[in-house]
Amino acid sequence: MSSNTLTDPTKRSEISKYKEDLITDCLDGRPSFESESRYSLSTDGPAIRYIQPPNPEWEFGDPVTSTELGRRWMEGAKHDDDWEHFDAEKEETRKIYSLMISGVQPRPIAFVSSISATGEENIAPFSFFQALSPSPPLIMISAMNAPRIKDTTANIQATKDFTVNLISLPWIVQGNAASIDSPAHVSEWELAGLTKEPSTHVRAPRVKESAFSIECTLFDKYDIVHPDTGANMSSITFGLIKCIHVRKDILNARGVPDPAKLQNVSRLGDISYGLVTEAFRLPRPSWDSDGEMIEQVLKRKQTPDESKEVQQ
Ligand SMILES: Cc1cc2nc3c(=O)[nH]c(=O)nc-3n(C[C@H](O)[C@H](O)[C@H](O)COP(=O)(O)O)c2cc1C
Repeated sequence: MSSNTLTDPTKRSEISKYKEDLITDCLDGRPSFESESRYSLSTDGPAIRYIQPPNPEWEFGDPVTSTELGRRWMEGAKHDDDWEHFDAEKEETRKIYSLMISGVQPRPIAFVSSISATGEENIAPFSFFQALSPSPPLIMISAMNAPRIKDTTANIQATKDFTVNLISLPWIVQGNAASIDSPAHVSEWELAGLTKEPSTHVRAPRVKESAFSIECTLFDKYDIVHPDTGANMSSITFGLIKCIHVRKDILNARGVPDPAKLQNVSRLGDISYGLVTEAFRLPRPSWDSDGEMIEQVLKRKQTPDESKEVQQ
């Protein structure tokens, strides 16, 4: 941590609430990014360590409890009272939201650039985001409409295009800052410290700091209407991909992004973000190649093992 701005208590009154929260919740007692993260060394070597997958001895039909790792995992699911049940109709929306964003994770983050009908340029992150279909090439983002309709939603519906920029580690702080609910006259681009790059197929600029940007036009929209109240709660925007910009230095030999070089940041839940520091590979099973063998293995497993029965 540098000099006295963050550490000197007499200067704390001059620093923002953002910095106060950063100190108490994100810095205090934690090792520094530079000294501990594999990513801080990423220019010298791969940030992601590839290890073998768990349970390489696994055979089709083997249960999770066939390994020590699996047995320990299933310890937490032995009794009926090992579970908490949240009835969505009875819980507060806030509780369901917290459960959803912390349970359905990690989520990729779409950093969306859009322009309003009157020409204001806007950026904001959205983690209710997914790639949907390669042909037609589609992505979706979902924006909540309460307590206000997001500028991103209004802009895309008005001007019909936008860009989605994937956030890499070196600019996650700027990307996070752009989620601020700033008034219309404040430029989120300037506030976040990010750079506009003209798009080639749409009017909304892309983010120069992003190594993977997608230009989209509005393909369709879907309003999520609450079944009980009839209120329009969220808007799903479906984006038709017009062009994908990928930085050459993050490509692997197959010409697609190498996760170790792309350094995508995901959203975990609450204010936690995630990095991939370990990965493993698993082959895709194919019934054509292995179906016959799988059926034999399953049949063998169903046949009572006589020697075991005698021992019991
Ligand atoms: C990492 C991250 C992910 C977010 N994901 C969503 C999301 O999926 N949907 C949503 O409505 N708001 C999301 N938000 C909040 C919006 O970014 C925030 O409301 C922002 O002010 C919207 O900006 P806009 O009004 O300029 O569109 C997210 C915020 C962060 C920091």
